[in-house]
Amino acid sequence: MIRQILTEPDERLHQPAEPVTVFDTALQTLVSDMRETMHQARGIGLAAPQVGELKQVLIVEYAPESKADEVDTIPFTALVNPRVTWTSPDKVEMWEGCLSIPGMEGAVIRPRKVRIKGYTPTGEKIQIKASGLFGRVLQHEIDHLHGQLYSQILVPGSKLRPVKSDKPTDHE
Ligand code: NI
Repeated sequence: MIRQILTEPDERLHQPAEPVTVFDTALQTLVSDMRETMHQARGIGLAAPQVGELKQVLIVEYAPESKADEVDTIPFTALVNPRVTWTSPDKVEMWEGCLSIPGMEGAVIRPRKVRIKGYTPTGEKIQIKASGLFGRVLQHEIDHLHGQLYSQILVPGSKLRPVKSDKPTDHE
């Protein structure tokens, strides 16, 4: 089922999400709904608070349409109660967008690589090491679970600007 995506300035986007304690079919339905919702919105990442569920659940996925973009492929990944366990000291600046801030993008500096621990929707432990677009989107979505949007951590002195292209990579 496609859910409504909350947009700024909805206050639920700025509240911390609660850890998941029960890995039941309701959780798996939420993940399935989030995936359907993200596909329809042509996004590459979505966090549960964006559909009004203040739970620590996120998904990411990107299947490039063109071969030239294949380096950025992100396998479908659903993470429950994720936490960042390591970040690389080297950082990189990238443009980000967000389905909760439609039509805008902004420059954000984040660690180039991250390691993340969490659980699958069926309760198995999972560990992920990610860099590039994959690592970037995961960090963006984990921020959502802490009630933080990328617009709050823009490169100092920079501002949001209207998106020029409609590439799916512009929407998280
Ligand atoms: Ni977002």
